[in-house]
Amino acid sequence: MKPCIALTKGRLEKQFLDFFASLSFDIDPLVNKGRKLRVETDDFQFIFAKGPDVTTYVEHGIADLGIVGGDILAEFQPDVYDLFPLPFGQCHMAVATEAGKVWPDQKKKIASKYTGITKEFFRNKGESVEIIKLEGSVELAPILGLADGIVDIVETGTTLKENGLVVQEEFLYFSARCIANRSSLKIKRKQLAPIIEALQQEGALR
Ligand code: PRP
Repeated sequence: MKPCIALTKGRLEKQFLDFFASLSFDIDPLVNKGRKLRVETDDFQFIFAKGPDVTTYVEHGIADLGIVGGDILAEFQPDVYDLFPLPFGQCHMAVATEAGKVWPDQKKKIASKYTGITKEFFRNKGESVEIIKLEGSVELAPILGLADGIVDIVETGTTLKENGLVVQEEFLYFSARCIANRSSLKIKRKQLAPIIEALQQEGALR
């Protein structure tokens, strides 16, 4: 059976495919996949999922390898091998508020998809905050008055800017990472070695 690689859909998928193609792997079936969530190339099976689900498929051994943001690993701490960084998907966490907004005197309300990271960040500062969990588009929360600020990933900064938010503080810097199922690394070592080496060596050069 071909090794299975779980890819994070969206921005990382595009960046991974560009990187993968530059290593001379065949990506034609992946580029032309339409809405398919499972695609085979000559050498691999690929599945496409949201970041947290990529870690779940790898943790359970459905996928042997995964390509996922470091932010997802920090938030969910899955039981996988975190093998090495990849040369794309650079982003960082930021606390942001509406431009000109002054923090309230009482307990701050912070909206985030990253409740674990947010809790840890404010705990380290010795601040007690109310965390409101959202699933996406968190930039809306301060604008609509749901929260005083947000904790979110920033890549280009465009989403913050276009929604009138400004960064108050940056912390935790991430890139995409290659992760592996713990058993797969032992049982399928021979099959996985060429791709792991190619991704790692080329990634380190960029
Ligand atoms: C992420 C993040 C920000 C945006 C930051 O959202 O939550 O909203 O990207 O990127 P930028 O700095 O390049 O603008 P994503 O696109 O994953 O969508 P979501 O808000 O629905 O989770």
